[in-house]
Amino acid sequence: MTLTSRFSGKTAIVTGAGSGIGRATALALASGGASVVVADIDPLRAKAVVAEIEATDGVAVEVVGDLAEEEVVEEIVRRTLGEYSRIDILVNNAGIMDSMCGPQETSSSEWDRVMRVNVTAPFLLTRAVAPAMIAAGRGSIVNVGSEAGLRGSCAGTAYTTSKHAIVGLTKSSAIMLRPYGVRVNCVAPGGTITNIQVTIDPDTQGPAVLGAFRGNVGRMAEAEEVASAIVYLASDEASALTGVILPADSGWSAI
Ligand SMILES: NC(=O)c1ccc[n+]([C@@H]2O[C@H](COP(=O)([O-])OP(=O)(O)OC[C@H]3O[C@@H](n4cnc5c(N)ncnc54)[C@H](O)[C@@H]3O)[C@@H](O)[C@H]2O)c1
Repeated sequence: MTLTSRFSGKTAIVTGAGSGIGRATALALASGGASVVVADIDPLRAKAVVAEIEATDGVAVEVVGDLAEEEVVEEIVRRTLGEYSRIDILVNNAGIMDSMCGPQETSSSEWDRVMRVNVTAPFLLTRAVAPAMIAAGRGSIVNVGSEAGLRGSCAGTAYTTSKHAIVGLTKSSAIMLRPYGVRVNCVAPGGTITNIQVTIDPDTQGPAVLGAFRGNVGRMAEAEEVASAIVYLASDEASALTGVILPADSGWSAI
């Protein structure tokens, strides 16, 4: 990682920054000069990413906790303002898969957990950072959606519904925050090589859905390739873009 000045003086919160797309985004923002708040439920992963950033003279701090809990969201924002006195960028990246099942097999507890992590946490964080961004007259929020937010055949019902909701959260927030200079966009990854796949059990979980998923996904992307789309939308180079849903899916959504 070579430090540049693209995000110099800025502070970014990245959720789920301990692994995969979030980790790659945190490293890229830090290499651009941003101070990064690495938020993750996994303390070892979070600490490792902070250490990686600090090893190349970047600036980062970890906040560990379950984003399904509102107090954790409050702690992330309190800690960010306490450490850096500003919030320029929020990347709502953390997300969990479902068990690739249809509504007839989706338990209430799975539905609630997926909605809480994938939808409610991004809403709560958006609401929590908005006052600082509005006061500054600028800010950039990037939500991480999914190909499953664009069509019905990429995951189970809970995950698919949650990622469609992220599209709505993005578009509504973009319009509502536009008068204040705050941009809100969404990157919709296709198949990406991360740790999220290890939660899918092909033997027991919606094998028909998973088979269709594998057949359509085509080329799997590296996490860094998706991160570069997120970083672009977070940057001033995307100053005219808000309310955009940008597929980073190697053409999957074009099929
Ligand atoms: N990998 C793919 O193929 C793919 C495709 C489409 C969309 N996405 C989306 O990309 C985003 C990132 O996923 P990834 O593939 O990098 O997965 P990943 O599993 O590699 O990383 C997700 C990170 O989020 C953290 N996390 C999970 N639940 C959390 C919680 N409740 N509180 C705090 N942290 C939590 C995990 O500990 C992990 O470090 C997700 O929103 C996912 O839905 C991924």
